[in-house]
Amino acid sequence: MTPPKTAGTERLPRHVAIVMDGNGRWARKRLRPRSFGHHAGQKAVRGAIEFCLRRDIPALTLFAFSSENWQRPPDEVSALMELFLKALDREVDELHGYGVRIRFVGELSAFAPALAQRMQAAMDRTAANTRLHLNIAVNYGGRWDIAQAAARLARAVQAGEIAADAVDEHSLAPYLCLADEPAVDLFIRTGGEQRVSNFLLWQIAYAEIHFSPVLWPDFDAAAFDQALADYAGRERRFGKTSAQVAGGA
Ligand code: FPP
Repeated sequence: MTPPKTAGTERLPRHVAIVMDGNGRWARKRLRPRSFGHHAGQKAVRGAIEFCLRRDIPALTLFAFSSENWQRPPDEVSALMELFLKALDREVDELHGYGVRIRFVGELSAFAPALAQRMQAAMDRTAANTRLHLNIAVNYGGRWDIAQAAARLARAVQAGEIAADAVDEHSLAPYLCLADEPAVDLFIRTGGEQRVSNFLLWQIAYAEIHFSPVLWPDFDAAAFDQALADYAGRERRFGKTSAQVAGGA
């Protein structure tokens, strides 16, 4: 069943990106292993997706596994891989029923074939859905994204499709991950740390940033609402002056 919508009158972001931080600390507080925190974090992922469906937020991008996360202890990496596999098997049908398009962004070739195939199958199955674009960044890094886009653009230059002198931000943009999404309006990081950690560097150029002290497994609808209220109260100037923005210039 589709979750009910909530009427809201405030300005809503079209694209929310979240660094889901704090699973490990959440588990440590309970004297449990880090994998316990990731398991609880997965439930919060489900809650955040349902929240976006209810509030008609059309795009949500989650940082589930960074390029640097491979350096974590091997048992934690395998617990996360296991969690991703199980979540895919369990959740895809229902999310598809809700009209969610699932897309994994990052260097997917590094994953075990069984997981990479499941990711691809989930993307293929939900490709035509439009209600919520759910992007899950895995083995992703913002610098990697810009570098892979530059490499692909260089190939286009080499093939004579574009002149080297014509290379600018507009010609590079289509090669970046999430090129078909609106720019990120609201960037949330949970867990109290105040940094971007190599997530969506290009795509957050004009994003409003909300740092939440809440550990990711506890990031519920109230905490998400607080981020939205913070966003709604910001004046977005995109380089203009306050007076220009107020005058609609
Ligand atoms: C950061 O918390 C979290 C991660 C590296 C993993 C994120 C994974 C999930 C939320 C679970 C599953 C996701 C999906 C999409 C099914 P941390 O471990 O760095 O926490 P800490 O800073 O407290 O140590």
